[in-house]
Amino acid sequence: MDSVPVIDFGGQYSQLITRRVRELRVFSELIPYDTDIDKIKQMKPKGLILSGSPYSILSKDKNILLFDKNILFLGIPVLGICFGMQLIAKLLGGKITGSGQNEYGKTKIKMNLKSPLFKDLKPAETCWMSHKDSVVEIPSSFNVIASTPNIPIAGIEGPKSKIYGIQFHPEVMHTPSGMDILKNFLFDICGCSPTWTMSSIIEEQIKKVKDKVKGGRVICGLSGGVDSSVAAVLVGKAVGDKLTCIFVDHGLLRKGEANKVIETFRENFKIDLIHINAKDRFLKKLVGVSDPEKKRKIIGNEFIRIFEEEALKIKDADYLVQGTLYSDVIESGTRDAARIKSHHNVGGLPDDMKLRLIEPLRLLFKDEIRKIGIKLGLPDEIVWRQPFPGPGLAIRIIGDITEERIEILKNADAIVTEEIKRAGLYKKIWQSFAVLPAIKSVGVMGDERTYAYPIIIRAVSSADAMTADWVRLPHEVLERISTRIVNEVEGVNRVVYDISSKPPSTIEWE
Ligand code: XMP
Repeated sequence: MDSVPVIDFGGQYSQLITRRVRELRVFSELIPYDTDIDKIKQMKPKGLILSGSPYSILSKDKNILLFDKNILFLGIPVLGICFGMQLIAKLLGGKITGSGQNEYGKTKIKMNLKSPLFKDLKPAETCWMSHKDSVVEIPSSFNVIASTPNIPIAGIEGPKSKIYGIQFHPEVMHTPSGMDILKNFLFDICGCSPTWTMSSIIEEQIKKVKDKVKGGRVICGLSGGVDSSVAAVLVGKAVGDKLTCIFVDHGLLRKGEANKVIETFRENFKIDLIHINAKDRFLKKLVGVSDPEKKRKIIGNEFIRIFEEEALKIKDADYLVQGTLYSDVIESGTRDAARIKSHHNVGGLPDDMKLRLIEPLRLLFKDEIRKIGIKLGLPDEIVWRQPFPGPGLAIRIIGDITEERIEILKNADAIVTEEIKRAGLYKKIWQSFAVLPAIKSVGVMGDERTYAYPIIIRAVSSADAMTADWVRLPHEVLERISTRIVNEVEGVNRVVYDISSKPPSTIEWE
């Protein structure tokens, strides 16, 4: 499989560059700027991309200069973007200045179409610029291949060394020909083949897991969410009956969710699934607990305890499957990701289990995992499930958690999901769900006074759950949800819609 890693100098678009390369079906991952040259050689990349950076090439920050200049002499093509271009120019004998040539936004750029990087482009293209420093002198044996009215050197090439630099960002949408430039680099200059497809990832991961496990026994904690489900099915394809999944059901899942997980794994995929119906155990611990933080702690601890008990029963287990995905790895920082993540993931497990980790999804983004799930034949209900908090409905039932209140919320929540799906909005919304507050209000139904719970509807759009906006749901959808909930869910006489964003609110109510 051909790969073109992105050497990350901390630029805001670094991750986006890897995405774009992957969209062109060439594997790419972020690697830190001080990665050892031998490690890079071992990766056998077909090319390298140097990212942008919040640092100035002119600053005294020596860290940035931990980048090993010899990487530019490995004999493989290099594309420097923004800071990456300036770094190439500086390291190879060019000159950079920081004086008064800031450019930010869309800019018309003149391109030299003789350069293979700009093959099939127009002589002038709109590109996205975001820089303060500029290259004012190019290294010897380099040519200038692009310029703007502000800066005469907006692109450089070393035709013999196949080292290229562009001051603008081809990875952002505001550079309409950006994908063509990346295509030219990957396929014409680096000679990559577009072979990184979902099928190739599945095949490769199955082979990797087989080679690693070598007949050992594997366990997997299954939550019913897309990541752990896809990881489990993938590993199941590699190790067959050597895989046992442990599904701890705390009784606070959405309506029908537990059955779907059991049916999918046992019946569709013939995977050995231990279903721990621990509802009573969890509810007993939660009696009289209304503080959200206490709820979270109790559920988290109990979860680990049960998982541990069950895992210990599988005496000869050697490996533990985790559904860790690439954004988890990146959020932990690419440099220390492996250590931080494995520590975090197995933190709750006893030392003497000596389980080794299998993380078949750790280089994939969420949408790629969904595509793999579809390819593997996982049902839509699992592949497209919206994110759901570990403590489940416990943090959507404000105040005391009782069987009656769980039932009310499950039924109301199922109606919200059904109607959102019916309106074709489910996949477009980050999360949509019902919340049960700890108050009652007066209503009138069939000429009779009622005193019952309201249900709060929450629907938010978000890219990463760090910030969120409330969704402007069509009034007809809200109306259908409201009518159905008060008619079909006993104990509810009012429906309200939460119109708060995050911040200042959070997505969940607790
Ligand atoms: P908040 O409410 O903090 O939620 O805006 C952000 C995202 O995190 C999810 N969430 C949790 N997920 N355990 C989890 O696994 C938790 O305790 C938890 N609390 C919130 C929430 O659903 C949203 O996607």
